[in-house]
Amino acid sequence: MDHGTLIRSVARWIADARQVVALTGAGVSTASGIPDFRGPQGLWTTQPEKERLFSLDAYLADPDVRRQVWQLRLENPAFTAGPNEAHRALADLERRGRLHTLVTQNIDGLHQAGGSSPERVIEIHGTIHEVECLSCGRRVPAGPVLQQVRDGDPDPACPECGGLQKTATVSFGQALDPSLLQRAHDATMGCDLMLAVGSSLIVHPVALLPRTALETGARLVIVNAEETPYDDRADAVLRGDAGELLRAIVDHLDALQQA
Ligand code: APR
Repeated sequence: MDHGTLIRSVARWIADARQVVALTGAGVSTASGIPDFRGPQGLWTTQPEKERLFSLDAYLADPDVRRQVWQLRLENPAFTAGPNEAHRALADLERRGRLHTLVTQNIDGLHQAGGSSPERVIEIHGTIHEVECLSCGRRVPAGPVLQQVRDGDPDPACPECGGLQKTATVSFGQALDPSLLQRAHDATMGCDLMLAVGSSLIVHPVALLPRTALETGARLVIVNAEETPYDDRADAVLRGDAGELLRAIVDHLDALQQA
């Protein structure tokens, strides 16, 4: 089926769906200047040695890892990036009553910046915009703590308990927030269409959500620049740029609604 026909089918499915859940990954933010992880220019692709810095064990055990991670956080493009067409198109789907829940693996906050309602966005891998204490759980906006690092504190300790602090993002080996995972699971169990956008769909447990959707009989639509392990089970695979493809879907949806 050619792209146009596929996009029209996907728009029709979204128009007719009872509950649509979107699952997004780093590929929706690359157009905003934030590299993904496993694409051709991805962080783990180009700097595989950096992946070790983002394991919880290494962060807890090694002060030098913490120093490097804080320095990397200072330069993270998520603090200066703005939303792109992919974020805006998903917000348009929500405004049209066609998006029940948006589960994102991204930590950049760009879905909310692009117009998605915060209460419908599940940041299942956390957020870079907050800092949490790994001992007492205290959570604060990241800005002032990052300023402490800029001012020379290489590894700012929790002012309440003296514990180690980290941006409130989920590291490898770190448990996801069980309440967020439950919300994402419940939304997936209740959906009849999952729209997986800009994710390699290989990092667990999030990579199990499309399987759960399929098992409940939902349609699975994948929008991604490269192959994913679910391509052969998906009802539609749109290969290309997330922003362009999502905008085309929303435009066809509007055309259907006006017809
Ligand atoms: N349009 C469509 N797809 C894109 C675009 C784009 N503009 N840019 C990149 N992609 C695709 C890439 O081809 C890749 O398949 O997005 C996918 C991103 O996959 P990953 O880099 O693996 O990112 P993600 O799936 O979000 O990773 C999941 O892994 O490292 C952890 O915690 C991190 O949340 C992250 C998790």
